This record gives sequence, structure tokens and C-alpha cells, in this order.
Amino acid sequence: MASTLRLCLPRSSTILPAPVCALSSSRYLLTPSQTRRRPYSIAAPDASDQRLRAIDLSNFSITKTTTPKQLTANEKLIFGRFFTDHMLSLEWTAADGWLDPKITPYQNLSLDPATCVFHYAFEAFEGMKAYKDKTGQVRLFRPDMNMKRLNKSVARIALPTFEGEKVIELIKNFCRLEERFIPSQRGYSLYIRPNMIGTQKTLGVGPPGSALLYVIASPVGPYYPTGFKAISLEATTYAVRAWPGGVGASKLGANYAPCIVPQMQAATRGFQQNLWLFEDVDERTGEKEDFVTEVGTMNLFTAIVNKDGQKELMTAPLDGTILEGVVRDSILQLARERLVPDGWKVSEKKFHMREVADAAREGRLLEVFGSGTAAVVSPVRSISYKGELVNCGLKEDQEVGPVTLRMKDWIEGIQYGEEDHPWSWKL
Ligand SMILES: *Cc1c(COP(=O)(O)O)cnc(C)c1O
Ligand SMILES: *[C@@H]1O[C@H](CO)[C@@H](O)[C@H](O)[C@H]1NC(C)=O
Ligand SMILES: *[C@@H]1O[C@H](CO)[C@@H](O)[C@H](O)[C@H]1NC(C)=O
Ligand SMILES: *[C@@H]1O[C@H](CO)[C@@H](O)[C@H](O)[C@H]1NC(C)=O
Repeated sequence: MASTLRLCLPRSSTILPAPVCALSSSRYLLTPSQTRRRPYSIAAPDASDQRLRAIDLSNFSITKTTTPKQLTANEKLIFGRFFTDHMLSLEWTAADGWLDPKITPYQNLSLDPATCVFHYAFEAFEGMKAYKDKTGQVRLFRPDMNMKRLNKSVARIALPTFEGEKVIELIKNFCRLEERFIPSQRGYSLYIRPNMIGTQKTLGVGPPGSALLYVIASPVGPYYPTGFKAISLEATTYAVRAWPGGVGASKLGANYAPCIVPQMQAATRGFQQNLWLFEDVDERTGEKEDFVTEVGTMNLFTAIVNKDGQKELMTAPLDGTILEGVVRDSILQLARERLVPDGWKVSEKKFHMREVADAAREGRLLEVFGSGTAAVVSPVRSISYKGELVNCGLKEDQEVGPVTLRMKDWIEGIQYGEEDHPWSWKL
């Protein structure tokens, strides 16, 4: 039994997820001139569609658990294994728009086996964190970026868009309720996983007539509990993560399952992650080259001394094959503010593996690192490429380079409120 606490007007709460209305997909082909009650365009449902309900914060309900979980000791935390007491959910239907948001005890979903998410992968997700600073204040790091990205991801798979600011308000409420789960030690945080799925019961392939946006959270420890451990990558040419015109720039579940087998294969050869390459013509030479895209589920940065003798920090440009990482964007901005005055060049540009290998051979490769919310930065020791092992600039007894380390310190300083910065949002 759960005790129910209403924030505003009482309303009988539905159990998650509400029955799904079986709409035929032909509904989406109607034009406004046609006479149905709520005509619908073929475009993805939009938050700004005045005919549908926008997210309404006034009828937000919280049903608290009566069986609070025991906290897990910090040192026993395993990424994504333990969850907080509650979940935040918002249902959407094509007929009504967004239904009232609610927080309920963390619970199983009950979905029909024919639900479209299980068949056609109508699913997009986010990864963000809440941090507790020294004074106990809870902070989010650039949550607007995560909401913007989720809104873009869901639009790509015909799921409904939403007003990000309202979902941030709801996530703040959720974090307040789950505050006891947020560890206060530096490096520890509450990993927040927003997820949107298509919930319509149908084997028909078409835009889902209903959806569920839900948020769960998991207390997590530092990615490198005993200090940095530089990883080795296998540059993967036989499998491609993302391609021009594809969906690699969206955080869709469908992008991740196909990457596991290549990762397992790299692991059998002693490499922790895949370096995803994309073969394309180098416009400068007309030659085919293997362009560097991302590493595992992180963006990739390379620091070199370029041919002009200038230090240069490079990452691949957002050409549709690169996930628009929040940490990637933060590193670029911080590098432009704080490294450029020291003589660095900062570039978002296409570069290929032969350039990286050449730089290593000529002693110009300084550092390589991945970036993402889970680890902030992840130093790279070596890359196996076409039978060659490219050494990424670390000495044998060194696990992290100076630029990688400074980036981690700058970003964590902001995340944990040690540096006052507009990227850190207090609850
Ligand atoms: C999530 C993700 C990243 C990192 O994004 P952040 O917002 O920095 O956490 C990079 N690449 C891929 C493929 C991802 O899924
Ligand atoms: C809140 O919910 C109640 C009960 O369902 C409903 O009558 C009321 O119109 C809702 N309020 C708003 C602002 O939507
Ligand atoms: C939830 O689902 C899991 C299977 O994934 C099951 O083991 C568990 O018992 C379920 N919990 C409840 C409360 O039904
Ligand atoms: C959400 O995405 C849609 C489609 O890309 C866009 O039209 C809308 O402006 C976005 N809304 C917000 C609040 O970001």
C-alpha cells in the first residue's frame, strides 16, 4: 500500500501505464482540412501543437513508497544496479497529448507483448547526473542540454516532443524526493535515466499512438574508483556505428545493441572499447581514409602538435554521425576559454586514423581521451589499427595526460559546485 500525497487538485491516479488507445496509423495521414475531431499531420507530434495538452505541472501527483529501500554503501555501488525508491512518469496519447505527470513507487511496467517498443524499438534515452556539493546542495549539470537532445531524439522516431523546462522542473522534484540516495562524496552522484518509449499495442509499423516518458535514477560511484586506468582501443573497420543520413546523432536504444558484439570481439583481443571509424574520401587528397568518429559510447578527443607546430585539441564535427555529447560540448567551450589563451588551437573537424598514426610516429601525439557523463573523461593508452599499435602519448607508468586531467578537474569542479558556474543548476 502506498500513501498518496497530492500537490494540487486531487485526481484519481491511473496505474502505469494507462491502457493504450489503438489508433490506426492512417490517422496520421489526415490533413487539417479533413473533418476528424483532431486532425493530425504526418510530422512527429510536436510540443507546440495547440490541439494537444502540453505538460501540466499543476496536477503533478506524488505517491510515496511505504517500503523505503536501504541505502547501499558507497563502496558497494555498481553502475546501474541499484535504483531509488520512486520513478517519474508522464503518459502521452495522440488524442489528448500529455497526461498529468506523477511520481510513484519504483515499479514494473506492465505492457502488452504486442507493444510497439518491443518490436520496432521506439525508444530514446538520456543520461545525466545529480551531484551533492560540500554544503549538501543538490545540483544538476546542464540539464537543458539533455532535454534538448531527448526532444530531438524522440522527434526522429515519431515519439512526441515536449517542453524541456517542464520536465526539468519534474526531475528537480524527483531529485528532492530521492535526495537521501545522492551520495555526498566527490566522484559519486545520482545517475538519472530519462527514457521515452512507444506504448501503442500494435504490430503495425507506424507512429505510436501513445508513449510513456519515465525517469529512473541510480546512485553511482566514480567510473575509476582507484584512479584513472587508461584503456586500449580496437579501431573497428568491419562494423560501422553510424553513417551519413543515419541516426547516430540521436540517443536511440537501437544504436546500442548492435555495438555489443564488436565490443565482445575486441575484448577477446584484449581491447576495452571499439574506436568507431567511418571510411570516406579525404577531400584534401582524394584518397579513401578511415575517419575517427567516437569511442564505445563516448566522444573522442585527440591532442596533437600539428604540422604547424601548434598544440591542437581535435574532435569530430557534428555531421550527423556523432552523438552531441554534453561533456563534448563542455570540453570544447572550456578549451576555447582556457586552453586557447595558452596557445592551443581547438578544432571540430574531420580527421582520420592515418593522421593519428603519423602524429604518434613523429612524436606529435600528446593525448587521446573519451568523454561522456559516466566517466567525464577516459584516457586512452593505445589504438590497434590495421595491425599497428598506435601509442597515444602516455608513458608506461602514466594513466592520464595533463589535458585530460585538467578537463576532468574543471568539469567536476563545476559539477560539485566548487566553481560557481551557470552550467551547474541548483535544485
Ligand atoms: C551518451 C553518449 C555520448 C556522451 O554524451 P554525454 O552527453 O557527454 O554523456 C557519446 N557518444 C555516444 C554514442 C553516446 O551514447
Ligand atoms: C486536474 O485534475 C482534475 C481531476 O482530473 C481536473 O478536473 C482538472 O481540470 C485538472 N486541472 C488542470 C489544471 O488540468
Ligand atoms: C518485476 O519484474 C521482474 C522480472 O523482470 C520480477 O522478477 C519481479 O518479481 C517483478 N516485481 C514485481 C513486484 O512484480
Ligand atoms: C522539440 O523538438 C521539436 C522538433 O524537433 C521542436 O520543433 C521543438 O521546438 C522542440 N521543443 C523544445 C521545447 O525543445
